Amino acid sequence: MLKIAALSKRFGDKTAVDRVDIAVDNPQMIGIIGRSGAGKSTLLRMVNRLTEPTEGSITFEGEEITALRGAAKRAWQARCAMIFQQFNLVPRMDVVSNVLHGTLNRRSTLATMFNLYPKEDIHRAIEILERLGIAEQAPKRAEALSGGQQQRVAIARALMQRPRLILADEPIASLDPMNAQIVMDSLRRIHEEDDLLVICNLHTLDTARRYCDRVIGMRDGRVVFDGIPEALTTAVAREIYGAGEDFSEAATSTAIETLDKPEIRAAEACV
Ligand SMILES: Nc1ncnc2c1ncn2[C@@H]1O[C@H](COP(=O)(O)OP(=O)(O)O)[C@@H](O)[C@H]1O
Ligand SMILES: [Mg+2]
Repeated sequence: MLKIAALSKRFGDKTAVDRVDIAVDNPQMIGIIGRSGAGKSTLLRMVNRLTEPTEGSITFEGEEITALRGAAKRAWQARCAMIFQQFNLVPRMDVVSNVLHGTLNRRSTLATMFNLYPKEDIHRAIEILERLGIAEQAPKRAEALSGGQQQRVAIARALMQRPRLILADEPIASLDPMNAQIVMDSLRRIHEEDDLLVICNLHTLDTARRYCDRVIGMRDGRVVFDGIPEALTTAVAREIYGAGEDFSEAATSTAIETLDKPEIRAAEACV
């Protein structure tokens, strides 16, 4: 499905991503972990073609992504939806218009200028918001929503693009533990229901363990672990995080587990 081969990115003499090979055969939910500066964002950005690789190739369903130019590259960027830590919404614009922005790539400039959206797109946007449990927020300005709600709007906008894969770069890093859980549950559910490949950069190990079928550990631009969460022992984690004997997983924890309380389940139920 997705094949990343000998992919590298250098910024001057700094190698951010160093000969990375990753093969994905079916739509998994993959977590990429590693400490800050390990190359996680650069890797995702190359898949989305926001950053040009120095060497190597990326193919998706047989198509050479790294070779796409112009309109073909923009079409790929629409199919490969990106979710960011800081949500990247238009703060003063209402929620439903933010979601409709996910259709921008297939609308004319004139239609965009006059905010003319086809009725079926508006219906779809509302349906997606309903699916994410935030339809009642549709008329509000994005900036009036909580961080967790804003991130779900960003996920809705991504779904509006009818993506083939979703890339999420630390989607929960700015959220409190309860909202982090709601957002991760949403991503997991979309992955399962839509059979979508989701690749998610996470800086905490426990989140990757809990939500992902496969975990990729990066250190200094290289993949140092690639396997099922069960294979991720403390010794392996220590290697990924470059920590010494005193390393404890708690240091990489967002303490999501401690939130298995009834009120959280209630919050999850409306996602
Ligand atoms: N645009 C850039 N220019 C120069 N160096 C960069 C740039 N983007 C990332 N880097 C460097 O590449 C390395 C990997 O960064 P990044 O991919 O952001 O890591 P992570 O997301 O794992 O924290 C870091 O050393 C970072 O400083
Ligand atoms: Mg990053």
